[in-house]
Amino acid sequence: MRTIIFRDKQAVGEAAAILFAAQVLKKANSVLGFATGSTPLETYAALSGLSQRGIVDFSEVRTYNLDEYVGLSPAHEQSYAYFMRRNLFSKINISPENCHLPDGMARDLDAECASYERGIDMDGGIDLQLLGIGHNGHIGFNEPGDAFPDATHCMTLTPETVDANKRFFTSADEVPRRALSMGVGTIMRARAIVLLIHGADKADICQKALNGPITPRVPASILRYHPNVTVLLDQAAAAKL
Ligand code: GLP
Repeated sequence: MRTIIFRDKQAVGEAAAILFAAQVLKKANSVLGFATGSTPLETYAALSGLSQRGIVDFSEVRTYNLDEYVGLSPAHEQSYAYFMRRNLFSKINISPENCHLPDGMARDLDAECASYERGIDMDGGIDLQLLGIGHNGHIGFNEPGDAFPDATHCMTLTPETVDANKRFFTSADEVPRRALSMGVGTIMRARAIVLLIHGADKADICQKALNGPITPRVPASILRYHPNVTVLLDQAAAAKL
């Protein structure tokens, strides 16, 4: 695991964009794994700029997002599909049919999870996966538990995560209680991973994930067993390392 500390979140985001740009320059038809949340916003802004300036060509790229809420359609402003369109897909030269998120409106959620996992395999697996981390150590929506979930699955959000995500909704009651998420196994099968952590509020979980015991109680801790992970941090998140 390579760990690089930057001055601030802007530098973290630009460094991550450089790694994703390099991946696409090396392999035009890369399969990229993307994340939502506030953490990757600077990365997406920088990637949008690189696309608009003609430096990175996304026309052959395929993307798979980590997760989606159950019950929100892609038109819902808080769905992750909407987030990705607004912050990245509408600003780069990528075809909508190459952008994949689990379908939180699917009638048969288990079948949707299986088909999402199959789609990733059929596209050859994820070359580079972007990750943020929740305050409780979750990656995607893999919440702390007794085991690491393997494949894409439907799960119930912890009260802590509902609370953390309510800032995006008018009230906590509106936050969906379930989500579809790549499993920890799906994430660990990516060939390379870039984990972003910024902000003083992430300093505790950053310390636990990078230096504490490797345990499903802190899902991100398993990333230390992956052969190719780059962690990009700002000084505030790295304060307790
Ligand atoms: C959400 C997402 C995660 C994300 C995390 C952190 O629940 N499912 O993929 O990493 O929360 O969010 P933020 O970046 O806003 O701190």
